[in-house]
Amino acid sequence: MHLLKLMDLSSKQINEILNLADQLKFEKKNGIEHHLLKGKTLGMIFSKSSTRTRVSFEVGMYDLGGSALFLSSRDLQIGRGEPVQDTARVLSRYLDGIMIRTFAQQEVEDLAKYGSIPIINGLTDYCHPCQVLADLMTIREYKGGFAGNKLCYIGDGNNMTNSLIVGGIKTGMEVSVACPKGYEPDEKLMQWASANGKFTCTDDVLKAAEGADVLYTDVWASMGQEAEAEERKKIFKNYQINANVMSVANEKAMVLHCLPAHREEEITAEVFEAHANEIFDEAENRLHAQKAVLVKCLGNS
Ligand code: CP
Ligand code: NVA
Repeated sequence: MHLLKLMDLSSKQINEILNLADQLKFEKKNGIEHHLLKGKTLGMIFSKSSTRTRVSFEVGMYDLGGSALFLSSRDLQIGRGEPVQDTARVLSRYLDGIMIRTFAQQEVEDLAKYGSIPIINGLTDYCHPCQVLADLMTIREYKGGFAGNKLCYIGDGNNMTNSLIVGGIKTGMEVSVACPKGYEPDEKLMQWASANGKFTCTDDVLKAAEGADVLYTDVWASMGQEAEAEERKKIFKNYQINANVMSVANEKAMVLHCLPAHREEEITAEVFEAHANEIFDEAENRLHAQKAVLVKCLGNS
């Protein structure tokens, strides 16, 4: 099984991954070994920086009795133009699975098409499915379930937004997005969300945040958009999770951030620190959720 994007998973499969993640978290906390991928090797191709994704996948493979190889695209021949079709076929002869973080979603899809081993998307410009599985795990931990919760995303309609919309709708939450005009999430995903659940997209932050149970934000300039960072600071300046936004949300609302965070840009330091427990539980859950994805994709069952 591959994990190329969240849309490929059914609601049932998402729940199975979350249940397994909960179980693996419990086992890890209680010192129970779970060598479910004994002897397996994961290749981890990175064309962008990473702290959480790299470390959680590497530690995750170790916890599962396997091993992981860090492969920077700068050092691989792929960085010098070797076609992805050939890279996929070569790496399939050495590895049991590949996790890849890159720019184009097509590159991830091509690895899956030409290779013969499971491919896991560790972030593209289009989506970030592994992050959202950890986010859903955290929401379920704090809220006890998904039904009846409103998930509100404020900021750039980017890879995070695309995956959050799919994850939110597939788990039965109401999803609202607030972003500036021209920076909306993927149009096709928004159409799908409207047809399959309760979804709104507006440029009005307070309207989107009204009554929200989960507030979520991400950086204004993603990796690869560094040249636009200054211009984006002006465009996004009102798209911030701050005390004003919190005042219209549910009083028990939780705040999540995929990290890295830019304080006083997409979130104030005050709100960030007030919700640090949730945000760092979310970061921890990357490990447990990643392990569940690895077992589902690379495991024998
Ligand atoms: N949230 C996330 O994917 O973090 P990294 O970029 O550090 O992997
Ligand atoms: N939108 C951000 C997410 C980082 C985890 C980026 O792509 O840089």
